[in-house]
Amino acid sequence: MNIILMGPPGAGKGTQAELITAEYNIPHISTGDIFREAVSKGTELGKEAKKYMNEGKLVPDEVTIGIIEERLNYSDCLQGFLLDGFPRTTVQAEALDEVMAKLDRKIEVVINIFVDRDILIERMEGRVSCKNCKSIYNTKFNPPSSPGICDKCGGELVQRSDDRGETVRTRLDVYIEQTSPLLAYYEKKGLLHNINGDQDTSLVFEDIKKVLESLR
Ligand code: AP5
Ligand code: MG
Repeated sequence: MNIILMGPPGAGKGTQAELITAEYNIPHISTGDIFREAVSKGTELGKEAKKYMNEGKLVPDEVTIGIIEERLNYSDCLQGFLLDGFPRTTVQAEALDEVMAKLDRKIEVVINIFVDRDILIERMEGRVSCKNCKSIYNTKFNPPSSPGICDKCGGELVQRSDDRGETVRTRLDVYIEQTSPLLAYYEKKGLLHNINGDQDTSLVFEDIKKVLESLR
C-alpha cells in the first residue's frame, strides 16, 4: 500500500510508522530522518538542511522533492511505502502527484494523526531517541527501562536539537501555515482519514490498522 502519514510535529508519526512498517513490511521514508542523518554525517545536504531545521523552518521544496523522487524509485518501494513528513507544502504534494504519475502509481491513503497543541509541546519536550537504532521514547509518556539507554539496542538516547524552546513553537506555527492546507487537498481526493492521536500508542495503531484493513 502507498501511504502518507500526516500530523503536526509530535503527533506520533514516527512512533506509528515503526508499527505500520513492521506490520505491512514496507519501507518507512521520513524526510526528517533523512535530513538528520545528513546533518550527523556533515554532508552538503546536511549543511544546507541544518540551517532551516535548527530554526524550525522547512527545508526548501526543490531540495526535499529531489530526495523523495530518487527514494521512490528504489526497488524496495515496489510493494508500497510509508511517507512520514512528506509532503509538507502544496508544491510538494503536487510534485508527489507528478512523481507517482511517472511511476504509474497512486497514493492510496492519507492518515492524519491529530493531537491538541499543548500535548504536542509536552511530547516534543520529553522526546528522546536512540542515536543508534532511532527508536523513539518519551521521558514522561514512554520512558525507557533505564534512563538514557535504549531498551532495544542499548544505544544512547539523545534529545533532538529542534525539540527545545522556541523552535518547538515555530515548528507548530509552520505546520499550521504551510502543511495543514494539505488536509483539504487530500480530503478533496477522498484519501484522508483522521485518527485521534491522543490515546495510548497501541490504540492509535489499532485505529490506523482498521483504516488500512478496510482498504486492502
Ligand atoms: P520531522 O522529523 O518530520 O519532524 P516533525 O514533523 O516535526 O514531527 P516529529 O518527528 O517531531 O513528530 P512525530 O509526529 O514523528 O512524533 P513522534 O512519534 O516522534 O521534521 C523535522 C524537520 O526537518 C522540519 O522541521 C523541517 O525543518 C525538516 N523537514 C522534514 N521534512 C520536510 C519536508 N517535507 N519539507 C521541508 N522540510 C522538512 O512522537 C513524539 C513524542 O511523543 C515521542 O516522545 C513519543 O514517544 C511520544 N508519543 C508518541 N505517541 C504517543 C502517544 N500515543 N501517547 C503519548 N506519547 C506519545
Ligand atoms: Mg518524526
